[in-house]
Amino acid sequence: MSDAFSIQTFDHLELYVGNAKQAAMFYRCGFGFQTIAYRGLDTGERNVASYVMRQGEICLVLSSALDPNHPIALKAAKHGDHVAVVALSVEDLDRAFHLSTARGALAAISPTEETDETGSYRYAMIYGYGNTLIKFVQRDLYHGVFAPGFVPREIPSRLNAGLIKIDHVVGNVEKGQMNHWVEFFKHTLGLELLIKFDDRAISTDYSALTSSVMQNSTGVIKLPINEPAIGKRKSQIQEFLEYNHGAGIQHVACITHNIVETVTALKDSGIEFLSVPSSYYAELESRVGKIDQSIEQLARLGILVDRDAEGYLLQIFTQPVQDRPTLFFEIIERHGSQGFGEGNFKSLFEAIEREQALRGNL
Ligand code: FE2
Repeated sequence: MSDAFSIQTFDHLELYVGNAKQAAMFYRCGFGFQTIAYRGLDTGERNVASYVMRQGEICLVLSSALDPNHPIALKAAKHGDHVAVVALSVEDLDRAFHLSTARGALAAISPTEETDETGSYRYAMIYGYGNTLIKFVQRDLYHGVFAPGFVPREIPSRLNAGLIKIDHVVGNVEKGQMNHWVEFFKHTLGLELLIKFDDRAISTDYSALTSSVMQNSTGVIKLPINEPAIGKRKSQIQEFLEYNHGAGIQHVACITHNIVETVTALKDSGIEFLSVPSSYYAELESRVGKIDQSIEQLARLGILVDRDAEGYLLQIFTQPVQDRPTLFFEIIERHGSQGFGEGNFKSLFEAIEREQALRGNL
């Protein structure tokens, strides 16, 4: 099952936002993405404005509708700015679509070909959790800047944040729904359950969650799924579900090879991160052993460290990137460890709960 069809990589993530023009500036000036392509009224597109943003291998598409009744406008109104489409590049689009729909995925768009003078771009879509769409993209015969209908528009970023590629994309689903979506990804995309964290591993005095990490056979596509668990107070996952009005993408983790430089640059540009108490660093070395980075530097920036049998990782989480406590980003630097920072869950969630309490939602 796991090699039913070959998923190569994350092709792009499309965010539906209230104001794509301003969002493009946020991701450019704040996160160091450069604008590479655009479509809108002035390119002949009457319904949607989209900005294609790139950094390393990461591609974000920011889209806003021009009419309030357009599905993008309705979804952005309901969920706030959110990751609406997870696009996966596949070797064989027809096979991906036909196998996944034959195995239970609901079709959103059947295989469609669009062409321009640079070649043929093919895609199809199925429904995932909540309103999230999973898009299959086959672009081996396409040589344009992004897709037909887009024109090149180069606006470089002055910020060198050093983000390289997507490590994982995490979804939050309603209580009792996680196993359904584990089975969904197993059957429709051929992903396998890599590891499951139960609420004993991921609980604080107050809130709890359960998480299952799904990944493809190459490990390039990692899609963890969280659901809330019962705690003394409201789970952070429940808070997300309420403000997102349903299941959706909670965070996108981006790889860097130098998290100290990346986080320094992002903080300078105004990106806000979750902070951890200085006590976290007091016992750090006894917990994770020797690491290449200076612990003083990590403490100054609030970067977390975790170690497992294969190595260690460094990670940090941004504050939500819109007013609703929904989508946020993770920056991660891996040194052998292929984990998700399990050892940090408790201190991390305590940090999230402090913010949740400030919002009046704990
Ligand atoms: Fe993560």
